[in-house]
Amino acid sequence: MTKPMVFITRRIPEEGLAIIAQSCEVDLWPGELPPPREVILQRSKGVEGILSLLTDKIDAEVMDAAGSRLKVISNYAVGIDNIALAEATKRGIPVGNTPGVLTETTADFAFCMLMSAARRIAEGDRYVRSGRWKTWGPKLLLGQDIYEATLGIIGFGRIGRAVARRAQGFNMRVLYYDPMSAIDDEEAGIGAISTDLDTLLREADFISIHTPLTEATYHMIDNQAFSNMKSTAVLINTARGGVVDPDALYHALSEGRIASAALDVTDPEPISPDNPLLELDNLIITPHIGSASVATRNKMARMAAENLIAGLKGEKLPNCVNPEVYI
Ligand code: DGY
Repeated sequence: MTKPMVFITRRIPEEGLAIIAQSCEVDLWPGELPPPREVILQRSKGVEGILSLLTDKIDAEVMDAAGSRLKVISNYAVGIDNIALAEATKRGIPVGNTPGVLTETTADFAFCMLMSAARRIAEGDRYVRSGRWKTWGPKLLLGQDIYEATLGIIGFGRIGRAVARRAQGFNMRVLYYDPMSAIDDEEAGIGAISTDLDTLLREADFISIHTPLTEATYHMIDNQAFSNMKSTAVLINTARGGVVDPDALYHALSEGRIASAALDVTDPEPISPDNPLLELDNLIITPHIGSASVATRNKMARMAAENLIAGLKGEKLPNCVNPEVYI
């Protein structure tokens, strides 16, 4: 029996590749960088499955290139903003993602960014390495306290809640804004209080973004949002760069309208090395590594592989973001 042909857009951990190789003919893009658009279009031709990364735009054109044999799209990420979901659903193509396995790892990272920005870790490191450390100073690199501060979480899904649980250990007051999930305090078990966005922006000392990127959340943190924040506020974004307007962020940071920011995601991504944001000392920036632990990336690979294989067999994907294709 001939094996189904699949296109995998980058080398994911072996744990996932091994599962796929058992039952598929694999076309694996070997590059360190994402395949260029024309390569995606070319190599998707006639495949039954696509395993994509968040860097690859999988839209109607790619689905057309694949043609009627395409049975499944499996994204190696929990976020699926790179995929034209409505288009896949219209065509009856199930789309898989990797929820759950990266929740705690990403929440750890968000908290780590929060603490680093609050206590100016990256600046301190640069200060020492550049030979500026001459003595202990009463006012040297003063930051903000985390314990008992107010944390505002935008997007109270799995990762947002996991961040809220971490905040308990610091006796923080936690506010959250999430029009999609109004769970009560009891259910959250973490004393988090649901509020509107303006109140959250006004009252939070730390604002951590955990919402997916959609039309509604694109640039939701804009000039107006920054002007509602405290001048001592710290913004953390480990979700998607597009949620924050980068020009508004630049003005807020360079004009001291907020204290600092820590970004693991940017708009666009990657950020250009000559972007003026990179000149600011009150910005910490990392290259989208929130879920980047060995164990988590292995689990994501396995999950993405299992989604792919299920779709090829015509079975329900273990993690499907458009289950309506089965109705
Ligand atoms: C995701 O999965 O969406 C993250 O951004 C990368 O792990």
